[in-house]
Amino acid sequence: MRSILVVNPKGGCGKTTIATNLATYYGVWGVPTALVDVDPQQSSLEWLNARPENFAPIYGLSALGGEVSLPDETRRVIFDVPARSKTEKVVELMKLTQAVVIPVLPSPIDIRAAAHFVGDLLVQGHLRQSKKLVGVVANRVRENTIVYHQLERFLKSLEIPFVTSLRDTQNYVRAAERGVGVFEMAPSAVVEDIKQWRPLINWIEGKKKIPR
Ligand SMILES: Nc1ncnc2c1ncn2[C@@H]1O[C@H](COP(=O)(O)OP(=O)(O)O)[C@@H](O)[C@H]1O
Ligand SMILES: [Mg+2]
Repeated sequence: MRSILVVNPKGGCGKTTIATNLATYYGVWGVPTALVDVDPQQSSLEWLNARPENFAPIYGLSALGGEVSLPDETRRVIFDVPARSKTEKVVELMKLTQAVVIPVLPSPIDIRAAAHFVGDLLVQGHLRQSKKLVGVVANRVRENTIVYHQLERFLKSLEIPFVTSLRDTQNYVRAAERGVGVFEMAPSAVVEDIKQWRPLINWIEGKKKIPR
């Protein structure tokens, strides 16, 4: 079993979007997947409530009550961690997971917040010594904007891998509304998006090393 934590103390950077879309990737490949919603807003579970019945099942759980128990056949577990989580709490959750995905938006405020968070994680999470996969993903990217270049420079300067960039597109908004993921939408509409997910999936699944 492999567990993935999607985390960033900043709200609105794409944690739920990445958690739910990743769950659908595994879903379409028939991999039994659980989505654990640690966020009191329960957006991942609301997304799951909107999910059409004939789509690949994803097992949803709320982690607000503490311990969770997963079905035996579960192969992938994705944790949607709330904004404003304390680094100590994140470090606790990291102990349960193999991969940590940190989405960051191209905005000066988000870049600064991510710099603090990654700095704290490096210290408190002992990332340098651990073999854990911890990587950043640029989200809602509009190429050729100054702020995206700033974000790119910042992400490349970190001591953790910059795994991929996801573009800013209504596809994610529509997917969120309908309880689906980009992997389940009309292929012609999402070619670009699927291409951008590939490095993230390969990285999580250990198929390819992402250069720093
Ligand atoms: N790549 C993207 N393109 C367009 N809209 C996006 C993208 N990623 C996230 N969003 C939208 O931004 C909002 C915040 O994203 P969300 O995943 O809920 O963030 P978080 O869980 O970190 O608070 C949502 O309305 C979502 O649909
Ligand atoms: Mg969320």
